[in-house]
Amino acid sequence: MSEKVNINFSVNGDQETREAVVGQTLLKFIRDELHLTGTKEGCEIGECGACIVLLNGKPVNSCMVLAVELDGQELVTIEGLAKNGELDRIQQAFIDHAAFQCGYCTPGMIISARALLDRKPSPTDEDINEALSGNLCRCGAYQEIREAIKASSKK
Ligand code: FES
Ligand code: FES
Repeated sequence: MSEKVNINFSVNGDQETREAVVGQTLLKFIRDELHLTGTKEGCEIGECGACIVLLNGKPVNSCMVLAVELDGQELVTIEGLAKNGELDRIQQAFIDHAAFQCGYCTPGMIISARALLDRKPSPTDEDINEALSGNLCRCGAYQEIREAIKASSKK
């Protein structure tokens, strides 16, 4: 039997206490235990960015973090960005600029973009490139993604 420990954390603004299997990744915990499947499973080795979430406001690859490390932390997933039924402005900008094709990279891209805009509301092209450096888009929608982020920037 796998060893389990209790962890306390907040997810998308709600406080939770759950059991986490020792050794389970945060990515698996988010998808299989919290049933928040917007966070995508890609490479599982920290290279594609499909699994990026905000941990205490910082973007992290959830495949590279253990679920038990969530104890005492604040987690935000793609499901937590919309508020009161309204999309976050970066989500709306992705729609307006058709910044996706298959959409598999989109949650990770949007979370990385949200983290950038929180840190730097008017990012330069270089800032955007750097913020997206850990996010791969197999469909090659990079140009539209950059445009969506630009459009969400504060003028
Ligand atoms: S699934 Fe985590 S970086 Fe690819
Ligand atoms: S839209 Fe398909 S991987 Fe980015």
